[in-house]
Amino acid sequence: MILPIVKYGNPILNRVANPVVSFDEELAELSKSMVETMYDASGVGLAAPQVGVLTRLMVVDSTGGEKNDSLIVLVNPKIITIEGDQFEEEGCLSIPSFSERVHRPKKVVVSARGIDNEELVIEGEDLLSRILIHEIDHLNGVLFIDHLSVIKRDIIKRKIRKKVRNGEW
Ligand code: NI
Repeated sequence: MILPIVKYGNPILNRVANPVVSFDEELAELSKSMVETMYDASGVGLAAPQVGVLTRLMVVDSTGGEKNDSLIVLVNPKIITIEGDQFEEEGCLSIPSFSERVHRPKKVVVSARGIDNEELVIEGEDLLSRILIHEIDHLNGVLFIDHLSVIKRDIIKRKIRKKVRNGEW
């Protein structure tokens, strides 16, 4: 089921999501719907708060669905190590039509559980590193614009307020 994506301005995007405790059918259904929603929106990652659910669940596919085996579903993810730096253009399905370059670690190692509570260790480099950290940020109520300078962030916020006023948001 394709779910509506919550946009910037909804306070759920600023809240810390709760750890998953039961790996049940409801969680499996939610992850399936999130995968569908991500692909439908041509995204490369989606975190549960973006569909209005305050749960530490996220889905990632750095190929946007081009490759069959590149989908990763992560539950209760934790960053284990980070290394290096990259500074690339980044956007967010919750902040459509805006993008900015953001500093991120070049490499990351993330530990998590899979949808059946199996242990996962994911190593990400470049784009995958950026997506993993961006989505984990969402679980902590942090958006990519929070990493920008105050000036750049305020410009985006002002443009969004204008869109809200015009009924375009
Ligand atoms: Ni995002």
